Amino acid sequence: PETTDPLVQQTIRYVQEKMMGEESGHDWWHVHRVWLLARKLAEKEGANRRIVELAALLHDIADWKFHGGDETIGPATARTWLQSLQTPKEITDPVCRIIATLSFKGAHVPTPMETLEGAVVQDADRLDAIGAIGIARTFAYGGFAGQELYHPDIPPLLHQSAAEYKQKRSTSLNHFYEKLFLLKDRMNTPTARCMAEERHRYMVEYVKRLADECGLDVLPG
Ligand code: ADP
Ligand code: NI
Repeated sequence: PETTDPLVQQTIRYVQEKMMGEESGHDWWHVHRVWLLARKLAEKEGANRRIVELAALLHDIADWKFHGGDETIGPATARTWLQSLQTPKEITDPVCRIIATLSFKGAHVPTPMETLEGAVVQDADRLDAIGAIGIARTFAYGGFAGQELYHPDIPPLLHQSAAEYKQKRSTSLNHFYEKLFLLKDRMNTPTARCMAEERHRYMVEYVKRLADECGLDVLPG
């Protein structure tokens, strides 16, 4: 087993069952990767492992994008679950607080984390949005959303506000500019920043090749 903590084990089974089969980029395997990354970062950065593991496992349990924009459903679902297992308040409160404050809301919207545990989980979620896996998730999401891979007339652009970020129709290529290329400078911890540099370089190289093969003019990452 990957853990001996019974609370973590039960949470894995709960999340697995709830998320298995999601195709929008929020499948169980995204959560599994974020959990493993968050554990690694927690160890290197000295964060509370239990809080980090539970927050990572529950971070996408009820994503607001799929619940009519209600951002309170995720933390509320997590709280109900943790309370059903008599989890102490010292664990439940910080875990739910992390889930409530985690998401990227647009290029110019700061989403600061209040604790080291939050910083670590946010970094892990963001690392899974970039690099080779980030590229795969972007085009998977694009197919799910029915958007084009790219469009020569849609120049790379940065969204201005949270509202626009939620509503704007985009292309998958544009997603690199509106979000993915910005993430390396938004990492909280030195360990994640170092991993992000490498993943970022790989994405920039990928976009260069894509542009070259498709005859597109793009900005450098
Ligand atoms: P997270 O799990 O980090 O909260 P999101 O819910 O924002 O991620 O999105 C899930 C996945 O889909 C991520 O890999 C993200 O980069 C990708 N994605 C989100 N919006 C778009 C978009 N407009 N075009 C392409 N990919 C997207
Ligand atoms: Ni996520």
